[in-house]
Parts: sequence; structure tokens; C-alpha cells
Amino acid sequence: MAAIHPRGNRHPTSASLVNFNLLREMPASGVGSCTRMTKTGGCGSTSRGNQFKEASSMTDKSDTPDNSRRTFLALTAAAPAALALGGTASAQTATQESALPGSGRAAIVTGSSRGIGAATAKRLARDGYAVTVNCLTHIDLAAQVVAEIEAEGGRAIWLQADVADPEAVRALFAANEEAFGGVDVVVGNAGIMNVSPFAEMSDAAFDRMIATNVKGGFNTFREAARTVRKGGRIITLSSGIVRQTPPAAAAYAGTKADLQIYARVLAKELAGSNITVNAVAPGAVDTQLLRQHGEDALRGIPEATPLRRLGQPEDIAEVIAMICSNSGGWVNGETIYANGGLN
Ligand SMILES: NC(=O)c1ccc[n+]([C@@H]2O[C@H](COP(=O)([O-])OP(=O)(O)OC[C@H]3O[C@@H](n4cnc5c(N)ncnc54)[C@H](OP(=O)(O)O)[C@@H]3O)[C@@H](O)[C@H]2O)c1
Repeated sequence: MAAIHPRGNRHPTSASLVNFNLLREMPASGVGSCTRMTKTGGCGSTSRGNQFKEASSMTDKSDTPDNSRRTFLALTAAAPAALALGGTASAQTATQESALPGSGRAAIVTGSSRGIGAATAKRLARDGYAVTVNCLTHIDLAAQVVAEIEAEGGRAIWLQADVADPEAVRALFAANEEAFGGVDVVVGNAGIMNVSPFAEMSDAAFDRMIATNVKGGFNTFREAARTVRKGGRIITLSSGIVRQTPPAAAAYAGTKADLQIYARVLAKELAGSNITVNAVAPGAVDTQLLRQHGEDALRGIPEATPLRRLGQPEDIAEVIAMICSNSGGWVNGETIYANGGLN
């Protein structure tokens, strides 16, 4: 299963290309095996190519025999979380945990070795999802995210896969399928941000960003469209920069605008599946994606933000968890801006 797909230079942006004024005002972009997990069995099975699979619907809780089985399986899946949270795995605790939105379900989060993706993977795991973590090069960080999830009683695997490579993305979904029996949530989070005025943007920086953000986003959505089970959630990470359109951000903002279109169109294509597809557009978030450009990249953002602080990866993970919960079931084909008021 361990498909290793190292690619070349992924972050061709040099600090000299960064427009610090721009960064002050705006947000940003960007296998080895691991802990081999047993299949949950609680997710049912899924076959690629069949769009609307049998599965544990997030909203369909009616009392059919199928659902009785799901409830049983959800209880089984919730037991480790109950242990972690309460320290006492009483039947009562397990029953409470079975109400977790992710009980008996699985999520794939691309680019989850650090930053927003890592926070999202850990947040979804706390909601009961078995999580497939993904990275490009930082396998140590990906393994650490898995270890943290397991330490809290969750289930996770990690896989190195370049989202720009369709084969690697297929391998990522296949690894999740093998470990957890199917997928209910896909978060297309992997991304890079190369900013530069038109006149100074290099071909390499432009091409790599298109490959990662646009092609990678497409590859992820295509596999998601083929495999996510009925009642599931598909989410992509856009950016508030699409609305801000500051100088030097054209190429990056363009890639992030594409992802909003992907979400709107796929939401329509999956009509009848009870799968929602949305984009989340963060404002400036304190991650390596900004910090790679130096401390100056963060200067002034808290003051310019009505909530008077820099966004944290966990802020965005909460929004994603909300969309994935039953409460988010009516939000579909939308872009949700989450930026503390920084517009
Ligand atoms: N931070 C912000 O202010 C901000 C604002 C708006 C939108 N966003 C968007 O939010 C998403 C996450 O950003 P972040 O700030 O958390 O970034 P980050 O801290 O730089 O993390 C990027 C993640 O993506 C992975 N990655 C990069 N290229 C990849 C590829 N080709 N294939 C697979 N994984 C890849 C990285 O893996 P490795 O660790 O192995 O390199 C890492 O896990 C991005 O799509 C970004 O555009 C961020």
C-alpha cells in the first residue's frame, strides 16, 4: 500500500518574491506505511465508480434493520474514543460517543501533516472519524499526527502522496479503503501559495502552484466523487484572498477561485446522493504557509482583524467539523468564509 511519490521542488517561492505588504493584508495557500489499522467494518463497503454507495448516511437515522446494524457498529467504533475521553468505557459512555458525527465513518484529509490539515485531521478524529492523513514530504510530521490521534483513542493512518499525481491520489483513497472500508468525508486541503507580481512570477512557481492547487484539487474531487458514500461531505480549502484580490496574488487567488467553482459544480453533479460539497475560505492563518515568508508576513494582521488576532488552524478545523456534522447538512455548493472579520 505504501505508494511513495516524491516530487521535485514544491515550494519554489523565494522570500525575495514575496510582497510583504500583500501578506500583511491577506491570507495564504502551499506513505511508508504507518500504523496499519484494521478495517472498521462499520462503514460498509464501497466500490469505485458507483457514485452513490450504500453507506452510513450522516442524516439518515431512521430505524431500519440496516440502521440497527450501523448503530451497533457505531457503538463498536466509539469505544476507543470513550476510553480516551472518560477513562471509563461504560456502556453509557459508549452510547453517548455513538452520537459523535464520525462514529463508524472515515475521513481523508489531504495535506494534513501540519497546519490547517493537521488540525482538521485531529478534530475529525475527536468527532469519531477514522482518519487518513496525507503529506508530501514531512512523513515525520504525518506520523506524529497519527500518533496524537491514536494517543487520544482515535484511529488513523498516514500516506505520502502528491495530490498533483492522479495515481498517487488513487493510492491514497485505496489505502483509506483498505484500512477503514470506505470514505465519508474528504477534505481537499493540500495547497501551496506562491505570490509574486505578474512581471516577476517564475514559470516554475506558477506551474507548481497550478499542479498542486488546481490539478491536485481536481484529482482529489474526482476520487471523492467516485468513492464518498451517501450522506458524506466533500470540502475544499479556498481562501479569503479570492475576495481581497491584492497585488501579487493573482495566480494564487485564481487557483483558489477554481476550487470554489469545483465545489459548486460537484454539489450539483452529486444531486440525489445526500453528499454535500463546499469550499472553506480562511483568512490569514498562522501556519508555515505564511511563516515561510518570515515574521513580516504576519505583521499587522491581528490589528487589521476585527477579532484582533491571527487565525489559528483550529479555527478552521472547527468550521470544517461543523460542516461535517449533522448541523451542516443544509449547506451545499457554498463557500464559507472564516476570517475573524478580516475582509
Ligand atoms: N494559512 C493560511 O493563511 C491560509 C489561508 C487561506 C487558505 N489556506 C489554504 O489552506 C490549505 C492549508 O494551508 P496551510 O496554511 O495549513 O499550509 P501549510 O501549513 O503549508 O501545510 C500544507 C500542507 O499541504 C501539504 N502539501 C503541500 N503540497 C502537497 C502536495 N502536492 N501533495 C500533498 N500534500 C501537499 C504539506 O505536506 P508536507 O508537510 O509534507 O509538505 C502540508 O501538510 C491550503 O490549501 C491553503 O491554500 C491557508
